[in-house]
Parts: sequence; C-alpha cells; structure tokens
Amino acid sequence: VWELLGVPIVQAPLSGGPSTPALAAAVSQAGGLGFLAAGYKTAGDVEAEIAAVREQTQRPFGVNVFARPPDATAEPFEAFVASLDAEAQRGGVALGEPRFSDDDYDAKLAVLESAAPAVASFTFGCPTAQEIGALRGAGSAVWVTVTTTAEAVAAREAGADALVVQGAEAGGHRGTFADTREREDIGLLALLALVQSHVDLPLVAAGGIMTGAGIAAVLTAGAKAAALGTAFMRCPEAGTSPPHRKALQTDDSTGLTRAFTGRLARGIVNRWQTEHSADAPIAYPQIHYVTAPVRAHARQHGDADSINLWAGQAHALGRELPAAELIGELMTEARAARAQLNGSPW
Ligand SMILES: Cc1cc2nc3c(=O)[nH]c(=O)nc-3n(C[C@H](O)[C@H](O)[C@H](O)COP(=O)(O)O)c2cc1C
Repeated sequence: VWELLGVPIVQAPLSGGPSTPALAAAVSQAGGLGFLAAGYKTAGDVEAEIAAVREQTQRPFGVNVFARPPDATAEPFEAFVASLDAEAQRGGVALGEPRFSDDDYDAKLAVLESAAPAVASFTFGCPTAQEIGALRGAGSAVWVTVTTTAEAVAAREAGADALVVQGAEAGGHRGTFADTREREDIGLLALLALVQSHVDLPLVAAGGIMTGAGIAAVLTAGAKAAALGTAFMRCPEAGTSPPHRKALQTDDSTGLTRAFTGRLARGIVNRWQTEHSADAPIAYPQIHYVTAPVRAHARQHGDADSINLWAGQAHALGRELPAAELIGELMTEARAARAQLNGSPW
C-alpha cells in the first residue's frame, strides 16, 4: 500500500462517531490513507460504509476491527455500577445492562474477506496466523496496533504486514492486547525505538501527532507513516458530536481512565472522569454497555461532563479544516521541518 500513498499520513480509525465514510474518502482522495472504524457497528453497517467509501473514491483505504477478546473475564464490577446508578437516575437515564460481546468479530472478518480493503487493521489484540493468512489471500495488508515490544513480536510471529505503534499520548482506548494493572505507558518516540530493536516490519506511528513537524519527527525516527486521530476530529467530514468538538477546542488536560468503558483510554478530563476513575474496574466491554445510555443522552443534551471526550495529549493544536486542506497544511509544515533538518550544521 505504501507505493500507493501520495502523503505519509494515515487517518487513524475513530470509533464512536468521528470516523465516517466521508472522512475516510476525503483523506484517501487527498493522497493519505483513510480508515473506517468497525468498532461498535454491525457487520452489515460496516459493509455499507465500505461501499459508501468506494462510491466516493477509487483510492486505497483501511478498515479497523476490534480483535477477538480472549475471554469474558472481568474484575468484579457490581459495586462500581451501583455507584453510577444514583447519578444516572438523577440525570433521568437508566444505566445499560453489563454484558460481554466480541463485537461481532467473525461476521466482521467475513465482511473484510469479501470486501478486501487495502488494509485490514486490528486493535486490542492480534488475529491468528490463519485469519491473517485469509485476509492477505483476499488482497488486504494486515496491520496490528501494538503498545509494547512483546506485542510487536507476537504480531510479527502471527504474520502481520505492518505495525501501528501507539504511544501513550494517543487519544481513545489504548490498543494493548490485554488491559492489566501492571502496565507501562510508553511514549511514542521511546516505543518506536524499542519496537525497531525487536522487529523489522514497516511501522506506522500514532499518538499525539498534530503538526507537520510531528509527522517529520516520526518519519525521522523510522516510521513509514504517521497516523493522526484527534487531528481529524474537527474536520467537517468527521462525525464528532458538537459537545466533543467544543471540548477539543479547550486546552484542558487529558488523562487515562477506565471510568467510561472498563478499558483504559485517554480523554479530556471532565467531571465523570474525575469522579469515577479511581474506582473503575477492568471490565470491558461490560462497563461500556453500562454507561452507553448515559453517554448517548449527554451527547444529545450537550452535557460534556458525562461524555467520554476521547482526545490525544496535544488536542489543543487541532484545526477546523476540511480534511484535504488539513493534509495540505500538514505536508507544508512537514516539508519545512525536513528542510530545516537538512540545513542544520550537524
Ligand atoms: C475518538 C477516538 C476513537 C478511537 N477509536 C479507535 C478504534 O476504533 N480503533 C483503533 O484502532 N483506534 C482507535 N482510536 C485510537 C486512534 O486510532 C489513534 O491511535 C489515536 O487517535 C492516535 O493519537 P492522537 O489522537 O493523539 O492522534 C481512537 C481514538 C479516538 C480519539
């Protein structure tokens, strides 16, 4: 897929609203690699979105899927859910039922195998060697998101074509294969260097990149391309909710939390995140389903204090521009950064 890209920019997959066929198509049409996010959608909707992108562009694009969860184990979550209940009732919304789901993994794999997007990418784990083989056979390159060197080695052994190296700066869920209490949140430059010392695969760098200088930096550090998520969330083509767009324009800080979904994710710190992070269990997707009605209600009513405001650490540098114009500005900056480096005395 690398030869087909006009610019080394990937629009990172953004589940929960921001990713749309219009955004993916605009990015791919501008020479980058747009992505659809299959997370939380039905397999049928994913199929329809792939068709919608293909109506808008002939260029390559990717589709991202949540990897099959290993099993349904979770920390006890009853006390945490009880602590959310009073608050939900005050807001006039009933909590959802905690339940396990694999997000329709098999059905989504079948859609990918038949639609064969240029790239099939996975987060929260690694597909099996057999699954990777089938996707490659259908014509897709397979990318796996990693957050540690151990995950990078496992993805290489399974046969991944490329790795998305996700630093702890990144907005949204951490892509770790298993969310655990003993974890290390490695920053992007450190992780890029560590992964390259273990694995010889093309790397896509993600986490906190909002400028052309940031893109030039990760290319200098050995990445083939930069993946930007938060940077595309204010584009008109994105499906980001109005209260989320507003929060992205502040310089409020972000933090890692399990308070919304039971899986570690980075969002702009709001009241829900402040009040419920300390007690939140590792229980994904059970807690996701419990809080989903509260979050949907809050989005409808513009209440930013109960929404998961996923954002990367540098979200304050976001721009409200159509995706193609944003890519144009980013590439002008990236070229300027490269020229400056070439002109430096050492
Ligand atoms: C709202 C939102 C939703 C996301 N959804 C997904 C997803 O479905 N799959 C995935 O692999 N990564 C997801 N991510 C992570 C991004 O793909 C990417 O790693 C991250 O945005 C990079 O950091 P940045 O936001 O600072 O650019 C999401 C991130 C955000 C902000």
